[in-house]
Amino acid sequence: MSRLFLGRGLETEADAYIDGGKSRAILVCGKRGSGKSYTLGVIAEELHRAADATILIVDPMGIYHTMSLSNHEQESVLWDWGDSPRGLPVKVLVPGDPVERYGGADIVAEMERRGVEFRSLALNPSDVSAESWCDSFGTSINEPMGISLAKATRRCRQEYGARGYFIREIIDEVLKDPRAHDRTIDALVNRLEMANQWGIFAADRYRELAEILDPDSVNVLDLSVIDSGRYGRRGLIVSVLSRDLFRKRSIARRREELGLAPERRKFWMLIDEAHQFVPSGRSALGKEELIRWVKEGRQPGLSLVVASQQPSAIDGEVLSQCDVIISHALTTSDDKTALNRLTKDYMRNEIKTYIDQLARTGQAVFVDDDTERLEVVQIRPRASRPGGGEA
Ligand SMILES: Nc1ncnc2c1ncn2[C@@H]1O[C@H](COP(=O)(O)OP(=O)(O)OP(=O)(O)O)[C@@H](O)[C@H]1O
Ligand SMILES: [Mg+2]
Repeated sequence: MSRLFLGRGLETEADAYIDGGKSRAILVCGKRGSGKSYTLGVIAEELHRAADATILIVDPMGIYHTMSLSNHEQESVLWDWGDSPRGLPVKVLVPGDPVERYGGADIVAEMERRGVEFRSLALNPSDVSAESWCDSFGTSINEPMGISLAKATRRCRQEYGARGYFIREIIDEVLKDPRAHDRTIDALVNRLEMANQWGIFAADRYRELAEILDPDSVNVLDLSVIDSGRYGRRGLIVSVLSRDLFRKRSIARRREELGLAPERRKFWMLIDEAHQFVPSGRSALGKEELIRWVKEGRQPGLSLVVASQQPSAIDGEVLSQCDVIISHALTTSDDKTALNRLTKDYMRNEIKTYIDQLARTGQAVFVDDDTERLEVVQIRPRASRPGGGEA
């Protein structure tokens, strides 16, 4: 059993652990500045120590690259906990060219000096479903543009199959569509050309996405370099990645069961600001895939950690699948109510009565369905440097 050490019970003073040996779905929540990102980093450190899973942090704020540095600021607290400051191997995945994305070669060089290694991430256009293209282009599969796009990708799949195809090939197929109106073709080609400019797609070589993840490092997908609003590009990246990894793990699992291959690593995805990807009450690129992760991820060994300021802004299906809750302080009643709904029979009191007891940053209500325990804990100090301090 790989135990993830989270902190210590305030009352019991007993160590608090999560069993990380099985597939888990974890919610980390709390108001602004209450310590969610810090706690997400604690979980990543523990997963790295356990060394039996590949770790991916989805980082919309661009704050986790600091995990390559040691947390000297809290050296004495770490000593008190029997630990010491320590940086971890960090791979930062950025779509496209890092220098271009960060806006300067000196920035990239400085991050590398701090121990960060960059890997360029390029989505394979052949991994993007017709529905996802439509979502990115703000159209639907039932509208003329969507119909033409679906036909084009279908023909590309027939023609290029496992070799994969690229935006150029999709455009060629669109141009050949005998039934589409000129205006539809123009509009669609325009959008595909634009997507080509986003700098997130492979142009001529199919590469397995899973291959760029390093099983021995903390992989950080830096989405802060992609603007969040338009075309749902962040969601598109998360959606393609999660579908790909789900497929990979399912195949690996089948092999394991048939005795064809040794046990492969499990997979943990940790998403900060998760309401961007699994929002409640509206659709979003990536949402469907992530819901599938939490609902069907047990078999293929997939775990998900979602962190958000507002549990009420997270999709209800995802919330109800979470078997661990780590809640820092909450103040708004909507959020307390959303969390309180997750109160279970084994708890002596409703979750909100414990939330109201939280006194300082780093304290959290820790609920684990697996052990049927609920307690208020002090999260342990980070060995690696937490990012995202105020400017
Ligand atoms: N367990 C802890 N021990 C010591 N310091 C902590 C702890 N948790 C958080 N902090 C500090 O508190 C500050 C806020 O933490 P953090 O950025 O993790 O909050 P957050 O909930 O993610 O905030 P936001 O909603 O703005 O993303 C940071 O400076 C962090 O280093
Ligand atoms: Mg945060």
